[in-house]
Amino acid sequence: MTRPRLFITRRIPDAGLELLSGRFDIELWPEYGPPPADALRAGLANADAMVSLLSDRIDKAVLDAAPRLKMIAQYAVGYDNIDVIAARARGILVSNTPDVLTDASADFAWALLMAVARRVVEADRYVREGKWQVAWHPAMLLGRDVAHSTIGIIGAGRIGQAVGRRAKGFSMNILYSGSSEKHDFEVVTGAKHVDLDTLLRESDFVSLHVPLNEHTRNMINAEKLSLMKPGAYIINNSRGPVIDEKALYQALASGRLAGAGLDVFATEPASAENPLFKLDNVVVAPHISSAGQATRDRMSIIVARNLLAWLDGHNPENLVTPF
Ligand code: DGY
Repeated sequence: MTRPRLFITRRIPDAGLELLSGRFDIELWPEYGPPPADALRAGLANADAMVSLLSDRIDKAVLDAAPRLKMIAQYAVGYDNIDVIAARARGILVSNTPDVLTDASADFAWALLMAVARRVVEADRYVREGKWQVAWHPAMLLGRDVAHSTIGIIGAGRIGQAVGRRAKGFSMNILYSGSSEKHDFEVVTGAKHVDLDTLLRESDFVSLHVPLNEHTRNMINAEKLSLMKPGAYIINNSRGPVIDEKALYQALASGRLAGAGLDVFATEPASAENPLFKLDNVVVAPHISSAGQATRDRMSIIVARNLLAWLDGHNPENLVTPF
């Protein structure tokens, strides 16, 4: 009996591959970088299913080149790289990997927040570059106290709420915005639901946890940045295009904002020439928030489970709905 053909656009951890290998004929793109457009089309020409990454653009043209495709299992929780509506119109299911990366992502938002507030990266450079000439001084590398300050969480979904639970451990005052109130979250953390402008005006730290869609693209633009408290910080490990990067640069370079922690950028990979990277008050990372080893294994297993459910005629657990 012929097995369905599965195209995988990058090597995902073995934990998931092992579950898939006996059930699919697998074609695995072997390189570190994404398949170029012609290789993607070639890989999909006869594929019944695929595993995609957030850096694979799966648009109408790609779907048109995949006449047999019935299932896209995304190796990420976000799926803004996939034209989900076009997929659905073609009867193609799309799944993602929620939950398993919530803690890793919240941890990393926290790592960025602590690093920028307490100047960890600057301090590391200061020591390594031989600038530490005086043993101790009351004004050396002063940063911002995190405990007892106010954090504003934009988007209190799974990851935003996990950031909020960590903030409670730091005795922070927690604000959140979003379309709905989260009663349980409020009970556990003492968080208060406010509108976006109030959150921006009152928070010392603003942390973004929204999906990228037509409502959130550029939601933090020059006007919204101008509402933020002078000396506040912004953290983004959701999606880069949620912030207008040029406006953010202005706000940081002028000293109006005290700093930013960024794991995501308008264009990825971001160019080393990005002006934000010239600023000492910006801590950056290359989109690695979910990059915990066990987390990545679990993401791979979820991808496999979704594909196997589809293969066995069941509803995959993590189907996404069009926004
Ligand atoms: C996601 O899952 O959407 C993250 O951005 C990468 O893990």
